[in-house]
Amino acid sequence: MKILVTGGAGFIGSNFIYHMLDTYPEYEILCLDALTYAGNMETLAEVAKSPKFKFYKGDIADREFVYDLFEKEKPNVVVNFAAESHVDRSIDNPGIFLQTNILGTGVLLDACRKYGIDRYHQVSTDEVYGDLPLDRPDLFFTEETPIHTSSPYSASKAASDLLVQSYYRTFKVPVTISRCSNNYGPYHFPEKLIPLMIANALNDKELPVYGKGENVRDWLYVLDHCKAIDLIIHKGKVGEVYNIGGHNERTNLEVVKTVLKELGKPESLIRYVTDRPGHDMRYAIDPTKISKELGWEPTTAFDDGIKLTIKWYLDNKKWWENIISGEYQSYYEKMYGER
Ligand code: NAD
Ligand code: DAU
Repeated sequence: MKILVTGGAGFIGSNFIYHMLDTYPEYEILCLDALTYAGNMETLAEVAKSPKFKFYKGDIADREFVYDLFEKEKPNVVVNFAAESHVDRSIDNPGIFLQTNILGTGVLLDACRKYGIDRYHQVSTDEVYGDLPLDRPDLFFTEETPIHTSSPYSASKAASDLLVQSYYRTFKVPVTISRCSNNYGPYHFPEKLIPLMIANALNDKELPVYGKGENVRDWLYVLDHCKAIDLIIHKGKVGEVYNIGGHNERTNLEVVKTVLKELGKPESLIRYVTDRPGHDMRYAIDPTKISKELGWEPTTAFDDGIKLTIKWYLDNKKWWENIISGEYQSYYEKMYGER
């Protein structure tokens, strides 16, 4: 099996590459990544030594580059993680989200159609379903929940899902889609809630909580997500969508307080800041389909996963300190300076 992993120098893609090479030492893994601000070769340093791994720097929306790569390597599976992934950045500058997430997905699908493929897997998100009200804890996203997006990010992800489904129906490209809830774990870029709060707390900086901190996210340890995608590409039914989530709902404030407690830092570091425009209230996944059809179950409860994650950030300070010392400083100032 030769798997092309796009976006493999980012958070989830890199964890997926590590998981696949550990689990299937005979597989060949190719990584295609544009190395945007979110991509990081240091993340792939360990795996870069493997004879079963090859890295290509390139843009999924660059048709000529992608076609050349398919012509040369003829992958039989594509797993598309490559995306602009941060909601706040999509509010600041939507254009690149349309370019990468929609047009880039279109180029990959065209390449699959042209060169042939056993499976194209699209890594999507629960954000395509919009949000759920806080006062209805009985409601969950199923695969039948209508698409109803809030941010330019989620709209671009929904558009790419629809494109993927259209290539299945019209051109019979063998596709699957997974829609996962919020991930956390090693190599998570520190613009996102959990790593940002860990880094700030360790530096005794204020922890910026949007609004009242009552929004709810359904947290999944990244390895559980990777294992679910592994199952879907091997056993999932072509044309199907699978929701992935582990019933680990927490308010943002609960998450932030847990981080502070684990690090022995005071709650006085919390600063309530202006809310995100269009902020989704609650995400919660019903994972019944993937559990019944493919036997997937999450293995890491939030209380354990957050400890593992904090330990990873303590043990790998150089990785995130390199990130936050660079252009991240101006990003942080722009997003939080006068908030
Ligand atoms: P990330 O931002 O950490 O990584 C994205 C990677 O894609 C980076 O390595 C970046 O360099 C690369 N990339 C960006 N534009 C590219 C382009 N045009 N061509 C090639 N490579 C490009 O993102 P992540 O959190 O690892 O998310 C990966 C995927 O999973 C995304 O599609 C995201 O929508 C989806 N997802 C994320 C979460 C989450 O909680 N992080 C949850 C559900 C789904
Ligand atoms: O649900 C899956 C999605 O989860 C993925 O599709 C996205 O790629 C991923 O970024 C994530 O989106 P969120 O917007 O939920 O994640 P984020 O870490 O940006 O924010 C989580 C919550 O924390 C959200 O309610 C906003 C809040 N927040 C975030 C930051 C960065 C804060 O209160 N303060 C912050 O500084």
